[in-house]
Amino acid sequence: MADSLDSIFIEFKQKLSTLTTQAEVLNLKSQAMGKKGTITEILKNIKNLSIEEKKIIGPKSNAVKKDIETLVQNKIFDLDKDAINKKLAENKIDISLRNSLLKSKETSPCLHPVTSIQREIEDIFLSMGFDVLDGPHIEDEFHNFEALNIPEDHPARDMQDTFWFKDLKHLLRTHTSTIQVRGMKSKKPPFKFVGPGKVFRSERTDTTHEMCFHQLEGMMVGKNITVSHLIYFMKTLLKEIFKKEMEVRLRPGFFPFVEPGFELDIRWKKPNVKKGESKHSGWLELLPCGMVHPHVLKAGGIDPNEYNGFAFGLGLDRLVMVKYGIEDIRHLHSGDLRFNNQFKEY
Ligand code: FA5
Repeated sequence: MADSLDSIFIEFKQKLSTLTTQAEVLNLKSQAMGKKGTITEILKNIKNLSIEEKKIIGPKSNAVKKDIETLVQNKIFDLDKDAINKKLAENKIDISLRNSLLKSKETSPCLHPVTSIQREIEDIFLSMGFDVLDGPHIEDEFHNFEALNIPEDHPARDMQDTFWFKDLKHLLRTHTSTIQVRGMKSKKPPFKFVGPGKVFRSERTDTTHEMCFHQLEGMMVGKNITVSHLIYFMKTLLKEIFKKEMEVRLRPGFFPFVEPGFELDIRWKKPNVKKGESKHSGWLELLPCGMVHPHVLKAGGIDPNEYNGFAFGLGLDRLVMVKYGIEDIRHLHSGDLRFNNQFKEY
């Protein structure tokens, strides 16, 4: 009888491995353990066995019963898992809409020009040993203002019209300079990083102003950093983006978090130059920057007597406008694929 219990178990295991539905599994289980099941019959007959046989067959049949229960439970669990995985694979949601767009030749996707230029600039800085950092869109007063040397009631707060939350302590970040503060706190000098992302200002929109736009912050902190370092990295960046050496100039510019502060302008060919007019008739304000203010270093936990550095904040949407000759910033946020698809080749 002990042998027949073994063979019942082996046969059960073999059959179970071939089953593909829960109903089949439960049916097989009842063939073994239902009212007239093979194991049930053996258990029913135990009372007719000798005491010695009872001592062997009793525990053995209970053990086989338990093993079968476990096998059935595991099999049902595996079948459930397979069913869920199959469903997930079939109903995969493509949040990027990439696949559905790919299906149509007309709307085949390409990166938004701001995304492309952001990635291009990240690569340029990565190749120069910079890290790429991120920061939250919802900020507190400390990171957006105080740590950047803009205390409460300082008129410089009015330079950036701000979307405040109801608690008047949190806001949508008005610039990526917040990443300077977070970067300083998370790193030990010397370091250099860039931090790209969306920023928000409560502005009236026009051809060059949006309420939500993109900046790329940059910061380098170490010993004996000078304005020459700043100019070197800015010129290298512009040369890579515009694929030629760009003439730049620095003008004084006021930002509470840098001292001295500059506006870096590039010489650019005005579009539609009239006959007789110089091709290089324009300077374009592109890149505010400067040497990091000692108060800012202190707020970031860095000793300004030992270290110094530079920082800059590049407006990515405006850079895209200059690079591709786009006359109105609002095209960039229109969500119009006809506009976006013009950048496929880039
Ligand atoms: C700042 O936001 C400073 N945090 C930049 C900075 C960083 C200075 C580090 C010094 C050191 P500003 O408000 O000028 O500065 O904005 C920086 C750039 O963002 C501008 O040069 C411009 O290219 C872009 N920008 C500003 N406002 C808008 C807007 N409303 N729409 C589109 N682009 C804008």
